[in-house]
Amino acid sequence: MILSFCPRWLLATASVTLALHGSLAAQDDSTAIARRIAALATIAIDEYALGVTDGRVVSQDELAEARLFLTEARSLTDRLPDAVRGPAAVPLDTLLARTARLEPAHELRVDVDGLRRVLADGLGIALDPMPQAAPSLRLGARIYGRACAQCHGETGSGDGPTSVALDPPPSDLTDRAALSGTTPLEFFRKISVGVAGTGMPAFEASLSVQERWAVALYAAGLRHRAADRTAGERWVARECRGCDIVFSDFAYLAGVSDDSLAALLEARTGSPVPDAAVAYARTAPAAEALGGSRSLAVRRAVRQVDSMVLVVERLAAEQRLDVAQGKALEAYLAFEAVEADVAARSHQAARGVERTFAELRAAAATGRDVGPRAVAARRALAEAEQVAGAASGARVLFGQSLVIILREGLEAILIIGALTALLVKAGARERTRELGIGVGLALVASLLTAVAFATVIRVSAAGQEAIEGLTMLLASAVLFWVASWMVSKIEAEKWRAFVSAKMRDALGSRRAFALGGVAFLAVYREGVETVLFYGALLGTADGRAGVGAVMGGLVVGAVMLAALYVAMQRFGVRIPLKPFFAVTGALLTVMAVSFAGQGVAELQAAGWVPATPLSLPALPALGVFPTVQTVVAQLTVAAAFAAALIWIFWVRPRPAAVRAGRG
Ligand code: HEC
Repeated sequence: MILSFCPRWLLATASVTLALHGSLAAQDDSTAIARRIAALATIAIDEYALGVTDGRVVSQDELAEARLFLTEARSLTDRLPDAVRGPAAVPLDTLLARTARLEPAHELRVDVDGLRRVLADGLGIALDPMPQAAPSLRLGARIYGRACAQCHGETGSGDGPTSVALDPPPSDLTDRAALSGTTPLEFFRKISVGVAGTGMPAFEASLSVQERWAVALYAAGLRHRAADRTAGERWVARECRGCDIVFSDFAYLAGVSDDSLAALLEARTGSPVPDAAVAYARTAPAAEALGGSRSLAVRRAVRQVDSMVLVVERLAAEQRLDVAQGKALEAYLAFEAVEADVAARSHQAARGVERTFAELRAAAATGRDVGPRAVAARRALAEAEQVAGAASGARVLFGQSLVIILREGLEAILIIGALTALLVKAGARERTRELGIGVGLALVASLLTAVAFATVIRVSAAGQEAIEGLTMLLASAVLFWVASWMVSKIEAEKWRAFVSAKMRDALGSRRAFALGGVAFLAVYREGVETVLFYGALLGTADGRAGVGAVMGGLVVGAVMLAALYVAMQRFGVRIPLKPFFAVTGALLTVMAVSFAGQGVAELQAAGWVPATPLSLPALPALGVFPTVQTVVAQLTVAAAFAAALIWIFWVRPRPAAVRAGRG
């Protein structure tokens, strides 16, 4: 910090007091107070480090300022909740005593860390609020021009129009040597609370957290040239594998100075690091630098989940099973945030993570086999990371797009095809309209839900899983109902009675409504996910060729499904009644059983239903997962179906055939 004249600390008293009372009145809650205390203590030690060297006072001003900040922080503890008031006061009293004895600054930082821990853990808050999304340099530049340039100057060199009136003058934000030890986090704190005793105002009240981070990152980038950044990016891409992931992590990089960035690069590459590489790394986690490609974000999230698995293992080793289980769920839900991105590229890789994490969670519940399960989960994660990181050309994108629509659409087409054939065979062709309406509504609803997930309602990952799970269970129930009704028509005898009965009656509006409902659920069930997958795939597709390839795959897949649908009609109408009903009834039953397993598995992923492991091979396509709960759900549906068969063929007295049309 720039040395200045002595009345500074006097001024500081006034402005700290004003700033505190001004903005704290507005948000007088313990979180704001705790953040203020932590910020004051941290800045105090920065000042102290400048004021005291080797136990000697080199600047009375800086020392006085540091002690002033600590005193302010100490008096603010009175306004903390009872539980943390005492514990927070202790390190502050210690700090005041140690600064009076001129002890080394690095030793005082230990007390500041302790203070921060007391506040954060005691109140359960993050002291430095992190941005919700990667900060945008463009937004930062806009705010800078509006709120900072008048003092710091357009380019940041400290020569804005109002700078002449300021003493001390505004910092030169382009001074690379002076700022090489500062971090964007320190900038964020100064921008938030201002610098007492100087013209640097507090922006906590006028700028949101996201805006303050954006302008902090922008300001931290002012000391580097754009040309250096571009050159640096090339150097890093060439010399430092895996650095792109490290540098895309804003929460990490925000706390790292330029000097440390250089050291980090040197440690990873083992070669001398050009300034340009640091220039690139400084703003690498900005939204713009990450670009449209989500693959970095995905790989980073996967790394993060990976480290959470280690925590699960450690907790389980300590027999803290409850916490371990919760952490395992948390880890999986963190993966959920990027699951669509992985699944769009490889369904198998995403399912692998889902399955191994379900197993890990189950293992954590009992405390047995956690080690091997964690290894399996991490292996699945590694595969997901590789899948997400692989560059994809147009051919690959086309293939992935085709696979998504075929995989997600196949079941829906089978169900709708079977129902249509049924209606046509029953001579109720006009009833197929209900199916069409169901499908149309489901497509619209899928699109709206997916858009809502992505924008308006930030449904938690768990909420999303729960919605999917409930939809599946509902679909299972309705399918079961329709399937048993169809099987009841297997006897040609009953079928003829059914056909000769008044058709409109037999397929009354309630039944038609149910059929429309089946069509709706069959499509909606996969529709939301499909839209999310396509969103993810388009997100990774570069340029017109990439987008064209994705759309091409979608169209070709849709045509193939349509062909399958038409074939089912042709074929279905030709096969005799009995096998037709047997086959379609069986098909729908298998799907009902499969949906039951999948639905419960989704609810397990959401943490709504526990997962008790079973030694059983998993067959996700049929909804078979190796847990007691999913298997019980499937057996229940299967047993209900068996009971329905017994009822239909043996129990129900013969005369019922007369009213078979209503069966
Ligand atoms: C009214 C003038 C003024 C405005 C407006 C202003 N600053 Fe400052 N700023 C200063 C002064 C004066 C200092 C020097 C403080 C010191 O000497 O410690 C400073 C210091 C800083 C520092 C600390 C640099 C260091 O050495 O660690 C940062 C970062 C900063 N300002 C960023 C901003 C940003 C970003 C904005 C806009 C959101 C802004 N400032 C708006 C006057 C201003």
